[in-house]
Amino acid sequence: MCGIVCYVGNNRAEPILIEGLKRLEYRGYDSSGLAVQDGSHIDHIRAVGKIVELEKAINGIDIKGTSGIAHTRWATHGEPTEHNAHPHSDEKGNVFIIHNGIIENYQSIKTRLEKKGVKFRSETDTEVLAHLIAQYFEGDLKEAVRKTMSQVEGTFGIAVIHRDLPGQIVVARRGSPLIIGVGEDGNFAASDVSAMVRYTKKVLHLNDNELAVITADGISIFTAQAKAVTRDAETVEWSAEDVDLDGFPHFMLKEIFEQPDTIRNAMRGRVDKGEGVPKLGGIMPVWDDLKECRHIVIVACGTSYYAGCVASYIFEKLTEIDVEVEVASEFRYRKLNFPPNTFIIAMSQSGETADTLSAIREARRKGARLLGIVNVVGSSISRETEAGIYNHAGPEIGVASTKIFISQLTILTLLALLLGRHHNMSLTDGVEAIRAMEKLPDQVKDILSKSNHIQAIAEKYYKYGNWLFLGRKYGYPIAMEGALKLKEISYIHAEGYAAGEMKHGPIALINPDMPTVAIAPLDSMYEKMINNIQEIKSRKGPVIAIVTEGDTMIKEIADDVIEIPPTLDFLYPILTVVPCQLLAYYCAQFLKRDIDKPRNLAKSVTVE
Ligand code: AGP
Ligand code: GLU
Repeated sequence: MCGIVCYVGNNRAEPILIEGLKRLEYRGYDSSGLAVQDGSHIDHIRAVGKIVELEKAINGIDIKGTSGIAHTRWATHGEPTEHNAHPHSDEKGNVFIIHNGIIENYQSIKTRLEKKGVKFRSETDTEVLAHLIAQYFEGDLKEAVRKTMSQVEGTFGIAVIHRDLPGQIVVARRGSPLIIGVGEDGNFAASDVSAMVRYTKKVLHLNDNELAVITADGISIFTAQAKAVTRDAETVEWSAEDVDLDGFPHFMLKEIFEQPDTIRNAMRGRVDKGEGVPKLGGIMPVWDDLKECRHIVIVACGTSYYAGCVASYIFEKLTEIDVEVEVASEFRYRKLNFPPNTFIIAMSQSGETADTLSAIREARRKGARLLGIVNVVGSSISRETEAGIYNHAGPEIGVASTKIFISQLTILTLLALLLGRHHNMSLTDGVEAIRAMEKLPDQVKDILSKSNHIQAIAEKYYKYGNWLFLGRKYGYPIAMEGALKLKEISYIHAEGYAAGEMKHGPIALINPDMPTVAIAPLDSMYEKMINNIQEIKSRKGPVIAIVTEGDTMIKEIADDVIEIPPTLDFLYPILTVVPCQLLAYYCAQFLKRDIDKPRNLAKSVTVE
């Protein structure tokens, strides 16, 4: 989720800021910028693309200032363009601000400010902060920032400078990381330690809703009520490399452990619990037609395709809509005859997958309506669909998709719930569904707490060369996704199968050297899955079963069991996939694979 770097001290700020941004590149971003102050002069430079583009834009400009703020943007509101890049300023160019997070009520603030005659120059949510701070500023920047904080909802990590106050940076946070560095030759602030660990390991942590005034000589911390706070500095023991990964050995594991927050981010500001109805602003432009739609086709590739497969069962349960799911590379070669008012939903983390992009272009030619569920703001698919929903999951760096899959399932469930509540789903069922969804982050966290147990199971089986994953109904796409995870990062051959298909051929494969992962939660297919597990055991095949906590029957027959908390049938996929992700990760770790960059794979397949 982008990066913030600030410095104020006795040295030129620009090289320190640029180096800090480079340390944050791993977080993923689409544009960058800085504002460096030298007395009342401020150099304000921004660029789209990698940091090297910002360096090119700076080239030849003699930036002398010893105080400045710098930012790498991961766009959430407004495409990745130079005018949307941070820092943003007020109309007079006195206030400069960088922001990490999402201002949920920016639209109402923007409308109010525009009515007062404020002219906006970007499509971002962030810009409202610059104008608010300028309006509140009466000489005390901290006070202006504090008053602004009280007006905004959502998440922020911000750093602000003002033309009239050289040598001073005000920072504040709510829900987005921001840490202060106490240096020998000046002081720092950043979204994580890696941006400043080369200069100092002495840090001060800001709590949510706190702000701080940073100068070359000192740091003062305050609460949102302007009460001064004393806080002891801590010393971080990590190296820059560790901190890039926040202490995780691989981005894939870090992203698996981010999943509780991923679900929260996908749901944030998107549910009206009292009415049991989601709020999905991104699809409102097409809502009048979408709510009447009775045929949806989901097109995607790889893991995103499996998310679509899960959604087909969820839509079937919650709505009156008939959902087809198609692999994008196949879809585009079909003779497409859509019923009137058919909607195509393109699922894509990157928003750049060539097959999916080609598929929606073909669908548009055939008159279908187009929606996108995408993680990267301003990506091609997000631009070529009429409306859509962003994951807000932050960058996914590991090539194997994990948190995005969970985010896609969460968003597709919200969409099915919204449509279902406009069909014949009752308020009570809607409220029950949302209540169950709100438990999911903690339930995923509970499963993650069993990672050592799952690692031990992986250690038992990682040398086996062929695995089978079996599931039924909601569990069938999870079986396919679990097999894909294992294949793509451990290079072990695996197949995901509909468990009911075993007797039609695959059961011939069962032998003591072929582990089977059975997706067998206490859902409507539970009894059938027990039969499948018994079929396998009677042929001496090892079985690793993913079951609901408290299950006693499967524990008696399976070789190994991974327990997950209970939830509603259609929400089980969000839980059952987590053990599959960890099994794949730990097998790959034991096999010493290049987990974040598996051979032959790219994070975004932009070629057909
Ligand atoms: C999933 O682990 C893979 N990295 C791959 O299958 C991926 O899901 C597929 O390439 C689709 O990518 P997209 O979501 O960016 O379109
Ligand atoms: N919401 C802000 C924007 O879209 C900040 C995004 C970020 O965290 O980089 O510009």
